[in-house]
Amino acid sequence: MKNIVLFGFMGTGKTSVGKKLAGELGMQFVDMDHLIEEREGRSINDIFASDGEPYFRNLERGLVRELSQREGLVIGTGGGVVLNRDNISDFAATGLCVCLNAGPEEILQRLEHDGSRPLLAEGDKLQKIKDILGTRAALYANVPEQVDTNGMSVDEVAARIKEMV
Ligand code: S3P
Repeated sequence: MKNIVLFGFMGTGKTSVGKKLAGELGMQFVDMDHLIEEREGRSINDIFASDGEPYFRNLERGLVRELSQREGLVIGTGGGVVLNRDNISDFAATGLCVCLNAGPEEILQRLEHDGSRPLLAEGDKLQKIKDILGTRAALYANVPEQVDTNGMSVDEVAARIKEMV
């Protein structure tokens, strides 16, 4: 069975939709950030603070190569995985790749009280979300399938993706 790989900005629901989908389809869910934290024995915040973003991107790249060799997984990627286009093409070769999209205000609502995203830690959060979304819009557009999640529940998004499988 092919993998189902969920892309999208922080707070677009990759983890909650991924868990739901995996449960309904009887597949295993893998959250890339969670696996990286487990293997490193420290949080994403600590990895960024001690070793910097390039070090994290390198770990992320290695994990994409590893997971794209496997089958039958629902994979929740980190929001920045699209920064390296090879990550999209590796996953696209072995699975259905879906990008979850949401507007900056909706993303802010979901992440307002969350301190686990180092890229949103400083400054005005809404502005930061808009800035990063702006620079990445063209990269997210490279993901083959797109779902607009604005105003949709986790169940609705999962149902929509199931129609694509
Ligand atoms: C990042 C998104 C995060 C995590 C890291 C960097 C990004 O994942 O990988 O903080 O660059 O957008 P989530 O999308 O799961 O929050």
